[in-house]
Amino acid sequence: MIKTVKDVDLKGKRIIMRVDFNVPMKEGVVQDDTRIMAALPTIQYILEQNPRSLVLMSHLGDPKKDVKKAQEKAEKAGKTWTSEDAEKFINGKNRMKPVVEYFAKKLGKEVTFLPDALGQKAAIDALPEGAVAMLENTRFHKEETSKDAAERDVMAKELASYGDIFVNDAFGTAHRDQASTASISKFMPVPSVGGFLMEKEVKYIQPMVENPPKPQVAIIGGA
Ligand code: 3PG
Ligand code: MG
Repeated sequence: MIKTVKDVDLKGKRIIMRVDFNVPMKEGVVQDDTRIMAALPTIQYILEQNPRSLVLMSHLGDPKKDVKKAQEKAEKAGKTWTSEDAEKFINGKNRMKPVVEYFAKKLGKEVTFLPDALGQKAAIDALPEGAVAMLENTRFHKEETSKDAAERDVMAKELASYGDIFVNDAFGTAHRDQASTASISKFMPVPSVGGFLMEKEVKYIQPMVENPPKPQVAIIGGA
């Protein structure tokens, strides 16, 4: 079984946590909050341990790919597509700020929005004791999804500097070898841990992989 937030001392520590807040967005409005609500138990548990700070990060779609699709769709429908259209689309689809505001309401606590995923070390160190913050969509930086491990590492190193302990509860993104999911753990001073979502999924899946009942049928779905 994986190590989780329950296996480490979080008191007074700066926590950097990957969540999967990749929720469907329409014009800056969250369309389905399942993933936000699913991460709350781990987040609340961490805050109960009195960490120095908790910084969350996630992707939210992929700005480059999403805007390209939107442009293709508009042009197919015979509409013109301007750079203003592109900006408006990205603001409503890929900007984390409205997600952070939504999440803060559900958490019942102020959450500081950090307007970029990189360059935030000073802002994080200046957060008041016990504060929660969230970074802008990690995929605004091409290093996040780069196929070049060295490129991913440059971003991962900086993200790693935001915390003493890395918590990964982004099960929905755990199949991606990216800077904020996998690479970051190489640069943490102590072994990284999972959250409760990750723990639950591993608990169900591990026995099926390591000691599968036979015969076995797996039905896997998603939306
Ligand atoms: C998903 O919704 O599939 C996960 O959040 C991962 O996102 P991705 O498929 O864009 O990497
Ligand atoms: Mg996907």
